[in-house]
Amino acid sequence: MIHISDPIELKKQMRPLGSIGFVPTMGALHDGHFSLIKKSLQENEKTIVSIFLNATQFNNKEDLEKYPTSFKDDVKKLEELKVDYLFAPEFIDMYPDNYRYRVSEDKFSKTLCGSSRAGHFDGVLTVVLKLFNLVQPSKAYFGEKDYQQLSLIQDMAKAFFLDVEIVPCPIVRTKEGLALSSRNKRLSNKGLLKAQRFAEILQQSRELTEAQEKLQEEGIKIDYLKEIGSRRFAAVEIENIRLIDNVEK
Ligand code: PAJ
Repeated sequence: MIHISDPIELKKQMRPLGSIGFVPTMGALHDGHFSLIKKSLQENEKTIVSIFLNATQFNNKEDLEKYPTSFKDDVKKLEELKVDYLFAPEFIDMYPDNYRYRVSEDKFSKTLCGSSRAGHFDGVLTVVLKLFNLVQPSKAYFGEKDYQQLSLIQDMAKAFFLDVEIVPCPIVRTKEGLALSSRNKRLSNKGLLKAQRFAEILQQSRELTEAQEKLQEEGIKIDYLKEIGSRRFAAVEIENIRLIDNVEK
């Protein structure tokens, strides 16, 4: 695996390659990430994964500081999977402008996760656009776990005429039904059980009011619980850790 940290070097290396599959991540990799990477490895000549804990998408300093990292293990796992390139830049590499320039969306990004995390999607869209410009992927893989993010990135690609196919990937869950997330690593055993209940309630309740009541009975703090079209979205807080999930009704 070729390891690159300099954006200009990356752009140089990517230019002559054939079809490039790209999987952007923030590290602390788990089977959810690996499912995206495996799909990319199957569908492209070369696969590049980025690990970049993108500070600009964190509206809460503590959330950023406590975000789990496991860089050495991540690299080992990527080597085992036979990923071709790892891009792992530093903040200054990605933000030479110190975030003076940014991409923002004015409507959908202000709802759901955007309403309680001011500026979150500006950070996400800005870094993804920068990464796309550097990698110039044929296809880029995003999980339905972050459904709002996926949808905003699809729309950004259209809005800016980006030459990339955005590939949605299904949510990977534990056998108990909990969506895998790097943040789950911060939960205690008790918190983990509550998180499983959260997933179960979200999936099994017939009505939103039923889901709301059951979550409250479990003492799970709700940030939002909403249905849009045929999908049910929720964000909750368990042990001060924010968890999101969504299900097809
Ligand atoms: P991160 O949370 O590391 O997730 C990287 C990718 O893995 C995202 O597309 C996410 O939806 C996907 N993913 C995470 N858990 C998953 C699961 N259980 N099943 C399926 N896919 C899953 O999302 C980000 O990083 C960042 O916002 C990023 C796009 C990298 C921009 O900084």
